[in-house]
Amino acid sequence: LARSRGPHELAGVNVVVSAGPTYEDIDPVRFLGNRSSGRMGFAVAEAAAEQGANVTLVAGPVHLSTPRGVRRIDVRSAREMHAAVLSAAAQADIYIAAAAVGDFRPSEIAAHKIKKQGDGGLSLVLTQNPDILADIAGLARRPFLVGFAAETENLEAYARAKLERKRLDLVAANRVGNGLGFETDENAITLISADGAEQLPTAPKCELARDLVGRIAARYRAKRD
Ligand code: CTP
Ligand code: CA
Repeated sequence: LARSRGPHELAGVNVVVSAGPTYEDIDPVRFLGNRSSGRMGFAVAEAAAEQGANVTLVAGPVHLSTPRGVRRIDVRSAREMHAAVLSAAAQADIYIAAAAVGDFRPSEIAAHKIKKQGDGGLSLVLTQNPDILADIAGLARRPFLVGFAAETENLEAYARAKLERKRLDLVAANRVGNGLGFETDENAITLISADGAEQLPTAPKCELARDLVGRIAARYRAKRD
């Protein structure tokens, strides 16, 4: 069904994709980050562009080249990503939140490299980052919203809770750990919506991204038409 209309299922549709980790600086030489490679988000951006969408890719710090035909905005921290996504979202028809946004940042960034004090440890005080997806969901003119949920346990229940809490149209839930998810090329996704869950066949991220984008396009059109 998702492929039945053939190529260019997203012709003229404005799609914003976020991808990669965020880095939260501790001092001039250290940061808090996470294991996201950005590959899934970049593959989603590429697949959407292949389907004719106008794609804006907001990318955290990753080592990936920009997919053909995609407009890329590089950011570092969650707050930079928040600002970039909110400004791009004003024109967006679909927002796909594939970034692994850091939930917390150091409350203060030290101006100079933190030095050891004798043989003592160090406690960092953290502040919660803004929730980009929840803020987009709160916009008066909100795009079709697709979240990701990377979980190590209770995959469907946690993903469904995110769908409801953030009032999303779809959640792409993927199991991480044991050779799946972050830092790997294979991924398995369960697509959760208000009317149920569908398991996408496990595949390399590029193939999986095309499958996912096809299903997103079909549901986006069904809601819009
Ligand atoms: N997300 C976001 N802004 C944040 C945190 C998360 O936009 N500050 C988005 C992610 O890009 C993803 C979705 O929300 O699409 C779910 O992220 P996830 O980390 O799984 O969920 P959280 O809501 O952060 O909850 P928790 O980490 O506590 O499970
Ligand atoms: Ca989180």
